[in-house]
Amino acid sequence: MRAFRFRPLKAALGACAVLSAMISAAWAQEDVESRVSRLLATMTLEEKVGQLNLISHGPPLRWADIQEGRSGALLNFNNAQDVARAQALARQSRLKIPPLFGLDIVHGFRTQFPVPLGEAAAFNPRLSRLAAEWAGREASYVGVNWTFAPMADLSRDSRWGRIVEGFGEDPYLGSVLTAARVEGFRAGGLATATKHFAGYGAPQGGRDYDTTYIPPAEMYDTYLPPFRAALNAGSMSFMAAFNALNGVPSAANPWLLTEVLRDQWGFDGFVTSDWASIQELLGHGIAADGAEASRKALLAGVDMDMMGQLYIKHVPTEVRAGRIPEAVVDEAVRRVLRTKVRLGLFEKPDIDPTRVDSIFPTAESRQAAREVARETMVLLKNRDAVLPIAPTTRSIAVIGPLANAPRDQIGPHGARGHQEDSVSILTGVRDRAQRAGIAVRQADGCDLMCRTTDQLPAALAVARESDLVIAVFGEPQELSGEAASRAHLTLSGKQAEILEALAATGKPVVLVIIGGRPLELGKLADTLPAILMAWYPGTEAGTAVADILFGDANPSGKLPLSWPRTIGQLPLYYNRLPTGRPTLENNRFTLNYIDEAISPLYPFGWGLSYSAFAYSDATIGQANLSAGDQLEASVTLTNGSDRAGQEVAQLYIRDPIATRSRPLRQLKAFEKILLQPGESRRVTLRVPVTDLGFHLDDGTYVIEEGAIQVFVGGNANAPAIGEARIRETTRIPFNQRRAGLPLSTAQ
Ligand code: BGC
Repeated sequence: MRAFRFRPLKAALGACAVLSAMISAAWAQEDVESRVSRLLATMTLEEKVGQLNLISHGPPLRWADIQEGRSGALLNFNNAQDVARAQALARQSRLKIPPLFGLDIVHGFRTQFPVPLGEAAAFNPRLSRLAAEWAGREASYVGVNWTFAPMADLSRDSRWGRIVEGFGEDPYLGSVLTAARVEGFRAGGLATATKHFAGYGAPQGGRDYDTTYIPPAEMYDTYLPPFRAALNAGSMSFMAAFNALNGVPSAANPWLLTEVLRDQWGFDGFVTSDWASIQELLGHGIAADGAEASRKALLAGVDMDMMGQLYIKHVPTEVRAGRIPEAVVDEAVRRVLRTKVRLGLFEKPDIDPTRVDSIFPTAESRQAAREVARETMVLLKNRDAVLPIAPTTRSIAVIGPLANAPRDQIGPHGARGHQEDSVSILTGVRDRAQRAGIAVRQADGCDLMCRTTDQLPAALAVARESDLVIAVFGEPQELSGEAASRAHLTLSGKQAEILEALAATGKPVVLVIIGGRPLELGKLADTLPAILMAWYPGTEAGTAVADILFGDANPSGKLPLSWPRTIGQLPLYYNRLPTGRPTLENNRFTLNYIDEAISPLYPFGWGLSYSAFAYSDATIGQANLSAGDQLEASVTLTNGSDRAGQEVAQLYIRDPIATRSRPLRQLKAFEKILLQPGESRRVTLRVPVTDLGFHLDDGTYVIEEGAIQVFVGGNANAPAIGEARIRETTRIPFNQRRAGLPLSTAQ
């Protein structure tokens, strides 16, 4: 059985290596353009528009359309049999152009890795790359060649359910991780559609699909850099967002799709719409009918129509009527064909239809998923060193519906994840406890939505009989993801009541939170001695959580967003602008709430370890800097504990006097460092001076002369360590920045 499983895996990985080699070979070809031109010259208008039609498996797909050259790209094909059938039909078409097969592979294909927001908490681009590469390997094994990921939408509002798909609130962290994800997917054999271009993560009220108002300078400084990093990392396509940005829907926004993405950044791949979002231009009230919607979208720069069927229906007529120049269609088709050539699709043999994804997860993919998951966990609180579980512990109560929720631990966008593959938290803890001779008792406490306290007495009985309670609560996965905006961020149903009752037993209660966003903890943040944010950890949730709870792994996750005390603080983010009235206690006429603290419950970058890290002897390198220099800060990091552990050293800056008000803090560099017990290390963090500037609304990038304050430490409240000075002002106008634009892009 083992040998049987092993062989297809080897073949899978071999195929991936071949595919990667083909991708690079294809990239190196100088004749991509002439090849595309030759093909384009032989195409009818209908065949051209067919390349711009992206259609999903299931109705209204007509399989014959593939053979007739009317569907150049397909989505939701998730198995080799269907892919092979479509490939065979494409081969029977007149021009035999291979289709793209796109799918939402967001955090794993069959083996489920932690959701992206959790993965961001690892502050570890190597692991982001690894997770994406595994997802790519598994998906491309069954013929998928394009993922609708990564999501590069920065968000500062946890009401928005899709915050789970991104990297949180910081443009620098977002740029580094988005680039790593693009690279990982590519190494795994997938082209990426980085989404949702752009500004989708700041909808009013946190309501998915709602409108966004972001001034241009803020777009350039905050929302666009992760997309730019994706492009630099080789993202072959982008997906336009659903919503309107400053009154112009992204699916018909020439500023975003042409001026910024093409003209300024020089992107030559293609842009797809989101699901039926060209059709939705009617809903936005900027098109009277499908023909007008098609015209506006295509002319703005949306090359491919996902599930609208509008291009295929209207574009040929619009071209023949002279309302869309054929050259615009040609350019869109060229972008799609260029991508297919670069991906090596024309050379690639069709997929073997007998391939199945059930060869995954393998021991190796599980190990990778476990490694990533344990680095994503953020230890928010650990009073009296309740964790790691003491060797003297004799019995543990595992309580909460999410302890045994194999589907929910995967989180939204589970691709081909099977709950049968999941190691539940209950199983993980029980297995580990058994090895240590610790008894485990279990009670659900309530069902997933926790609507009643009917099961509380049984849970309390179990708690009272045990030395320690591990309470696993949070958000069932249906409360997170697309179309899962929340107007309340309290623990759902009766969860808080149950947790309070558990705490009242006097037993130490460790809360493990499963979920896709920070939740309002209320007084539980004080009452409970230990809180671990585990996000949706994926297939290996149980082993990874057990690794952390028992101290087999040392927590090293850091919050990729500010954790609010209450929903009324949202949007909340550390890198906000100063005000003329900074917060003063006892002065209500300063930046304050009269009924809540102004600070987050836990700041950005926060996360505890079982080790104790100290920062000392911080120094700044060269004090006077020119545009070509790097700002350098060095610090000695010491692990004063008897446990090896990893710390994320973070460098923040502030430009205190500038022509525009600049953020109080901005993360500009970080490094995750492993230190042995008692070890000290000198760490140097570097920031190119070109990353210290900011934008004006017209797109001009300015690096201003003057002081830059520097802060180094383990979270966004890091102490000031000194100042450097930029010698002279450099201004780069919008239209001169095509090559090598800095913009906090990935290292
Ligand atoms: C989402 C996209 C996704 C697409 C295809 C849409 O509803 O907004 O992020 O890629 O569906 O599944």
